[in-house]
Amino acid sequence: MKIYRAHDYKDMSRKAANIISAQIIMKPTCVLGLATGSSPIGIYEQLVDWYRKDDLDFSRVKTVNLDEYRGLSADNDQSYRYFMDKYLFSKVNIKNKNIHIPDGSNEDAEDECRKYEELIDSMNGIDLQLLGLGPNGHIGFNEPADCFTRRTHLVDLTESTIEANKRFFEDASQVPRQAYTMGIGTIMKARKILMVVEGEKKAEILKKALTEEVTPWVPASILQLHPDFTLVADDAALSLMNI
Ligand code: GLP
Repeated sequence: MKIYRAHDYKDMSRKAANIISAQIIMKPTCVLGLATGSSPIGIYEQLVDWYRKDDLDFSRVKTVNLDEYRGLSADNDQSYRYFMDKYLFSKVNIKNKNIHIPDGSNEDAEDECRKYEELIDSMNGIDLQLLGLGPNGHIGFNEPADCFTRRTHLVDLTESTIEANKRFFEDASQVPRQAYTMGIGTIMKARKILMVVEGEKKAEILKKALTEEVTPWVPASILQLHPDFTLVADDAALSLMNI
């Protein structure tokens, strides 16, 4: 595990964007696993900036996103597809055919999850997976549970996740109750994993995830076992860890 300390959100975003940028430069045909939430927004802004300066080329990059709310179609402004278009895809030269996000409007969960796993396999897996950290230790939408779920699946969101994500909606009642998410096995198969964590509010769960036992009750704790895992976090998020 490599840990890089950043002073603040901007520094964290720039350091993480550097790692993603290096991946794209070293392998222009790479498969990037992408994430949503507030944590990665600064990274996307930095990547867009470098693209505009002609330092990055997304024309052969392929992407697979971690998750999507079930019941929201791509044009719904609360969908993760909409989020990704807004912050990254509409601003760089990525090809639409190379963008992949679970289809939240597919009501057939078995069909959607199977297709998503097959898709990732057909691309020969993920080169670099970007992750945020949920306040309850979730990654993607893999919620705390009594076992890890290996493959892409339909998940019932916990109350704490609905509460944490309601800031993006008018109120908690608008937050979808279910989502499609890559499984823990899907994420762990990525050749590199890059996690970004910011703020004092995540300090405790971050410490738990990375320094205590590996348990499905803290899904991110599995990352301790990944052979190429990098964390970029700010001082506040690292404040309870002795590093
Ligand atoms: C959502 C996403 C996660 C993300 C988490 C943290 O629940 N499904 O992938 O990591 O939020 O978001 P934030 O970065 O806004 O704290």
